[in-house]
Amino acid sequence: MTSEERRIRADFPLLMSDSTAYLDNAATAQRPACVLDAQRDFYEHSNANPLRGLYGLSVAATDCYEQARETVRDFIHAASEREIIFTRNTSESLNLVAYSYGLSHLKTGDEILVSIMEHHSNLLPWQMVARQTGAELKFLECEPDGSLPRARLEAGFSPKTRLVAIGHVSNVLGRTAPVEEIVQMAHERGAVVVLDAAQSAPHMAIDVQALDVDFLAFSGHKLMGPMGIGVLYGKEALLEEMPPFLTGGEMIDSVTRTGATYAELPHKFEAGTVNAAGAVGLAAAIRYIQQVGFENMERRELALTRLAMDGLKQYPFVHVLGSDRPEEHCGIVTFTVDGVHPHDISAMLDSDGIAVRAGHHCAQPLMQYLGVWSTTRASLFFYNTEEEVRAFVESMGTVRRRMGYGE
Ligand code: ALA
Repeated sequence: MTSEERRIRADFPLLMSDSTAYLDNAATAQRPACVLDAQRDFYEHSNANPLRGLYGLSVAATDCYEQARETVRDFIHAASEREIIFTRNTSESLNLVAYSYGLSHLKTGDEILVSIMEHHSNLLPWQMVARQTGAELKFLECEPDGSLPRARLEAGFSPKTRLVAIGHVSNVLGRTAPVEEIVQMAHERGAVVVLDAAQSAPHMAIDVQALDVDFLAFSGHKLMGPMGIGVLYGKEALLEEMPPFLTGGEMIDSVTRTGATYAELPHKFEAGTVNAAGAVGLAAAIRYIQQVGFENMERRELALTRLAMDGLKQYPFVHVLGSDRPEEHCGIVTFTVDGVHPHDISAMLDSDGIAVRAGHHCAQPLMQYLGVWSTTRASLFFYNTEEEVRAFVESMGTVRRRMGYGE
């Protein structure tokens, strides 16, 4: 282990105590001690129901929660805290947009545009909106390497496009979508853009104002925050005129027997007791990322991805999906192996102490489009080591032999 690797890993209790080579970071990341400490500190020193009580502890809990919101706002460069809504995860954020904006704005004759690479969480909500409103769901088809060249975009857009829902980085191919171009084409046609940043937010700086996206969703747990906390960013003018998604406690201004008026943004979209400790943990994760620096994380992830892809190249029976260039993978290396099922590969790697994900990765339309049933995915993060990647490559060299192919 290099001294840099040793220094980074000392921040992560699980990585220090468990010998697994954890290469399933696109599913969820590990947490640094500062995130665990921040949550514990909240429960030990500031716990009460936020946004309700007038006594000291409740005010302290509210302050912690709202400071976390400011940390998130600053992280994605939103113009206002009113544009930051805490949810459970990316799926809930996307469902909020679908139910609240989609159902109230789309109608028969409109088109919703998604890419064939979408995670199910950025597809099923739009299938629901299409079913319920009569709008048509259309697909942007990618090249086999996951790229979306101009001609592909032009084939997908039409004057009827009203909403574009696109993954910033594919959770299977690791490819980054041409967001600026998509936003420009969408806005020229009067369509809004919903960006699923679940796989990008942990790896690259995001500026929602520079990107000019209308909505953006991400989860805390993939960027080393707690599970059960997510974020929806939305432009204030859009959020302002959208109806609530969930109704109930704390999202109201006043209630009568027959009706209610709703709270100001962002609370209109945060019904019930909020996950304050989760928000506090997410804020600690963001501060940790800012301390490490995206440039250092990206440098390490690229080196590790290159090592993995170069290593796998020596095996003619391994086929990496997506681009040939490690810099177009965002740490994600998904592959098939001739004659060996991904579940068997995952089990064999597990027996060698290596954790990868196998299956359809919640992106079945992409699997069908690429003509594969199932794949294996190694996803790397800055805290992985060269030693772990080498062990993974070495293990991969044995999988066919272990399945009885004799090579
Ligand atoms: N969306 C996560 C993944 O791709 C769970 O693995």
